[in-house]
Amino acid sequence: MTFRAKLIFSTAVLALAAGTARADDDSVEVLHWWTAGGEAAALNVLKEDLEAQGIGWQDMPVAGGGGAEAMTVLRARVTSGDAPTAVQMLGFDILDWANQGALANLNDLAEQEAWDEVIPAAIQEFAKVDGKWVAAPVNVHSTNWVWANKSVLDAHGIAVPANWEELTAAVEALSAAGVTPIAHGGQPWQDATVFEAVLLSTGGSDFYKAAMIDLDPEALGSETMGEVFKRMDFIRAHVDENFSGRDWNLATAMVINGEAGFQMMGDWAKGEFLRAGQVPGQDFLCFRFPGTADKVTFNADQFAMFDQGGTVSPQQAALAQAVLSPKFQSAFNVVKGSVPARTDVSDADFDDCAKQGMKDVAAAAASGDLMGSLAHGYGAPASVKNAIFDVVTAHFNGEFDSESAVDELVDAVAIAQ
Ligand code: BGC
Repeated sequence: MTFRAKLIFSTAVLALAAGTARADDDSVEVLHWWTAGGEAAALNVLKEDLEAQGIGWQDMPVAGGGGAEAMTVLRARVTSGDAPTAVQMLGFDILDWANQGALANLNDLAEQEAWDEVIPAAIQEFAKVDGKWVAAPVNVHSTNWVWANKSVLDAHGIAVPANWEELTAAVEALSAAGVTPIAHGGQPWQDATVFEAVLLSTGGSDFYKAAMIDLDPEALGSETMGEVFKRMDFIRAHVDENFSGRDWNLATAMVINGEAGFQMMGDWAKGEFLRAGQVPGQDFLCFRFPGTADKVTFNADQFAMFDQGGTVSPQQAALAQAVLSPKFQSAFNVVKGSVPARTDVSDADFDDCAKQGMKDVAAAAASGDLMGSLAHGYGAPASVKNAIFDVVTAHFNGEFDSESAVDELVDAVAIAQ
C-alpha cells in the first residue's frame, strides 16, 4: 500500500470505529504550537474568521517553541492513521511530508487566488512541490532581531549597538551595573536561534549560505566558525544563572519587566510586548542583530493540509483561503509580530518594527540577503538541523570549547546527511 492509501484506509477504519465520517464534520482540526500569549491572541484572529464562516475549530495545541514537540505529536498521529486536518509547519518538514505523499494538492485554490503572483519565490520553494501547492503560507518571521527594554538602556546611557563590538560594550556595561544583560532560554532551538544570528553577523551572508544552507565542510570547519563559537561563549557568560530550560516567552517577559536588557529572538517576541501593552520606540526597541542590518534569516509559518482522501475538503479550502486573504494577512500579522507572506498587503496597520521588517524582507530579497533560518526549519532538513542543535547546545552548556565545537560540527553535519 502506498503511504496515501494507508492513510486513507486507516482514517476510514478510525472513522467507522468512531461511528462518524470525518468528511461530514464541519470543523477543522489544527495542530500548532502557538501557546504563548501573543501567539494565542494571533490564533484567535483565525479562529474567529473561520467561525464567522460557520466552520468549527478543533484546537490541537502542542506547546514548545520552534515546534519540535508538535512535529513529534504529528508523527504519532499520522502513524496511527489519524492525521489532523491542518498543521502549522515550517520549511523542510513541509517538503518531507509532501514527498511522502501525505499532503493535499491546493492547486485549484492557488490558481483561483493567484498565489503564484503574490507569494515571494523564497517561500514558494517551501510551499510547492513538483508544481503543486501543498501548504498555505501565513506569514514571514525573521530570526535576526534583538529586543531591548528602553528604560534599562536609557538608565545606563546605552545606545542601540550597531556591531558586535558595540554589543559587547553594552552587555558589559549592563553587567557591571548589576543588570542581567541577556534574557535567554536554554533550549536547543533558542540556542540555535542566537547562534545563527551570531554566525550571520560574524561571517556575512555568503558565509551563512555556505555553512547553514549548502553545509559546506570548509565553511563549517573554518576559523570564522571558531570565532562564532567564541562569541557564543561571550553570550553564555552574560545570561542569568536560571537560563536553562526557560521558555522563550519567559525570557521575553524579563525584558518587558526590566529584569534584563536584551533578548535575541525572532519577531514572535514582539507579540508578547504588544500583549503587555508596550509600544515600540517608547517602551521597547527592536533592531537587527548587530552586524546583520540589510540581511534577513526568515521562517514562514505555513498550514500544510493533510490529504483526507484525495480531494481538498471544503473546510481545508476555507482555512487556506482565509489565511491567504489580504485582510487576514494584515490582521493576523499585526498581532503575531510577523509580516505578511503576501507582497501586496499594505503596511498601514503595522507598527514601526513591522514596517521596518517589511522593508527589510523586500530589500534582502532583492539583494540576495534573504536566507532561510536553520533554527526554524528553512536551512536544512530536520536530521541536519537537529545535529547542529546538539553541537550548539552542548557547546553552550560547556561540554566543548570553541575549537572542539568546530570539529564536532563538521562531523555531526557529515553524519546527519
Ligand atoms: C514559529 C513562530 C513561533 C515561534 C515560537 C517559530 O518556529 O515560526 O510562529 O511563534 O516558533 O514558538
